Amino acid sequence: MPTWLVTGGAGFIGGNFVLGAVSRGVRVINLDALTYAGNLDTLGRLEGNDDHVFVRGDIGDRDLVQRLLAEHRPDAIVNFAAESHVDRSIDGPAAFVQTNVVGTLGLLECARDYWKGLEGERRDAFRFLHVSTDEVYGSLGESGRFSETTPYAPNSPYSASKAASDHLVRAFHHTYGLPVLTTNCSNNYGPYQFPEKLVPLVIAKALAGEPIPVYGDGLNVRDWLFVQDHCDAIERVLEKGRPGETYNVGGNAERENLVVVRTICRLLDARRPLADGRARESLVTFVADRPGHDRRYAIDAGKLRDELGWEPAVGFDEGMARTIDWYLANGDWVQRVLDGSYRLERIGQG
Ligand SMILES: NC(=O)c1ccc[n+]([C@@H]2O[C@H](COP(=O)([O-])OP(=O)(O)OC[C@H]3O[C@@H](n4cnc5c(N)ncnc54)[C@H](O)[C@@H]3O)[C@@H](O)[C@H]2O)c1
Repeated sequence: MPTWLVTGGAGFIGGNFVLGAVSRGVRVINLDALTYAGNLDTLGRLEGNDDHVFVRGDIGDRDLVQRLLAEHRPDAIVNFAAESHVDRSIDGPAAFVQTNVVGTLGLLECARDYWKGLEGERRDAFRFLHVSTDEVYGSLGESGRFSETTPYAPNSPYSASKAASDHLVRAFHHTYGLPVLTTNCSNNYGPYQFPEKLVPLVIAKALAGEPIPVYGDGLNVRDWLFVQDHCDAIERVLEKGRPGETYNVGGNAERENLVVVRTICRLLDARRPLADGRARESLVTFVADRPGHDRRYAIDAGKLRDELGWEPAVGFDEGMARTIDWYLANGDWVQRVLDGSYRLERIGQG
């Protein structure tokens, strides 16, 4: 079985990815700086498993990355590590440039040097997969969808830093021949997501019977994808994608934020009604919009479907129900996060 160096594997998507990969016999070297968003609790069930090696460190630490590459000789690098929250990028963009741009550059240079030292089949088979976002394409009007040829037009410090990292990844293929792959995915939801993002935030507020904040008019549209589907898409691209190519990943599930919030409210009411019998929808409270809030994202994932045979397996309603059930069953995981650095407060007002 292969060995992969996975970065950011204590975060939301990276954590789900690592759990799945190790369970299928992949040996994972997991490099994560454990920022506020990193959570070793997520990886608890891998304790004592020799196929998972956790290393706390920064993707921009060249000495460390070189050492890990030399010691573990991975067949691929999968780069999830990033500052990932638009709201935080409004309050403090510098950390986003540091990790997403400078850090990714360091990782790319180490990957290039390591790959150049490989020989034969190992060199041919090596891949550097960069996990990115649909937000690099900017905002859509009422119609149209992002394809791999849509020009980049990032609007937030987060998406600008991800766009810059995508360009570096592309340049390392064009200039040095590094066999890179890039995935640009829509909004994910599912188990282990940090509670400041929309879905887990709404679940936490709704469970507590507190006002549920909805930005602006609540009509911003995102294309929602269950996290396990994203992880499967990444594995498919890693296995079959053509080096140098980018692949859009989406859920065919465009929903207005307000629809997402109401869906969560209904699912929670059915499972755990409020003591006073109120419908949780009545908790929805419109608050000041996010500065520069993109109106609509939508993904055309036709290339991934036609070339690599991937399609999302979990629909929006099923994925949301599974997510709610996970959060209901894992209140301890959420509580430990909320006992730490974040207490469901509003961030990112500029
Ligand atoms: N969440 C989404 O909806 C979504 C959608 C598309 C793409 N993405 C991309 O997927 C990736 C993972 O997103 P996520 O939601 O899991 O993010 P996350 O914030 O939950 O996790 C990020 C992880 O990276 C780690 N990290 C941060 N800086 C680091 C550094 N300098 N060195 C090493 N580790 C570092 C953190 O500790 C954390 O464990 C990101 O690159 C993000 O841009 C996310």
